[in-house]
Amino acid sequence: MPGKLGLHLFYSKDPHIRAYLPSTTVLNRDSFYSLMRRYQSVYIKPNMSHMGKGIMKAWSTEKEYRFVKVKGDVKSFRNLKSTYNAIQKQTSKDLYIVQRAIHLAKIQTRPFDIRVMMIRNSQNEWQYTGMLAKVAGSSSVITNVNRGGGYAIPIENALDTSLRLTHEQQHRTIKDLIDLSHRICHRFNRYKYSSQIGIDFGIDQHHKIWIIEVNFDYPSHDLFNKLKDKTMYRKIKSIRNTYLKALQAGKIRRK
Ligand SMILES: Nc1ncnc2c1ncn2[C@@H]1O[C@H](COP(=O)(O)OP(=O)(O)O)[C@@H](O)[C@H]1O
Ligand SMILES: [Mg+2]
Repeated sequence: MPGKLGLHLFYSKDPHIRAYLPSTTVLNRDSFYSLMRRYQSVYIKPNMSHMGKGIMKAWSTEKEYRFVKVKGDVKSFRNLKSTYNAIQKQTSKDLYIVQRAIHLAKIQTRPFDIRVMMIRNSQNEWQYTGMLAKVAGSSSVITNVNRGGGYAIPIENALDTSLRLTHEQQHRTIKDLIDLSHRICHRFNRYKYSSQIGIDFGIDQHHKIWIIEVNFDYPSHDLFNKLKDKTMYRKIKSIRNTYLKALQAGKIRRK
């Protein structure tokens, strides 16, 4: 099973990692009703797409149900049935997944998530090279910087402004994210070979960490170039170059 669902199932088999995964399943009427009743808010995503394309969010309020695609208009419905009927019109062609929405920590009114960049070094070992916060664009349900119209800021700023974490709590969170990222990469080796992995993590309003997505084909370094401080960007590029050189010289292999 390829795509987002396949990777979710793969990671669910690791009990440690599973604790960080939001419930996810194939979208159909039953699964939509069930996740909405349980969590009041869900994300719906095309199984195979990337970069925020086609992402939808549905949630219930006291009076009605609401639905948004990427950063379009909010549509309202009277019941779950009419909400699902509207979603079905948009999702009938491909396989979609439905996932519990995480109440992401916010900066003012905008949610953010965290990108952790892991790349292989000249010894072919996974190395942590940097992380940042991606803040959603105005009234967007996604934090993808390009499609969502958002922006990138240093992780410490985000943790401080949104959750008022102390320096010590920030260090703890950053360390937890790095440890978890190593675990994710280590496990990924069994899925396939990749030389760079960008992991999207969410932090909810109770400070709990969630895994939103593991990007492994071409996770963007350019995101790090959007920070004023270029230290991480330079580090990523330099380690990447030593990896490519070692590969070219036959010192390591893609295996
Ligand atoms: N379960 C979720 N809870 C909260 N936000 C989510 C959830 N799933 C996705 N998002 C938001 O939508 C963005 C895009 O989702 P993602 O799964 O990364 O798909 P894509 O492959 O299109 O980037 C995320 O970066 C995040 O901002
Ligand atoms: Mg993503």
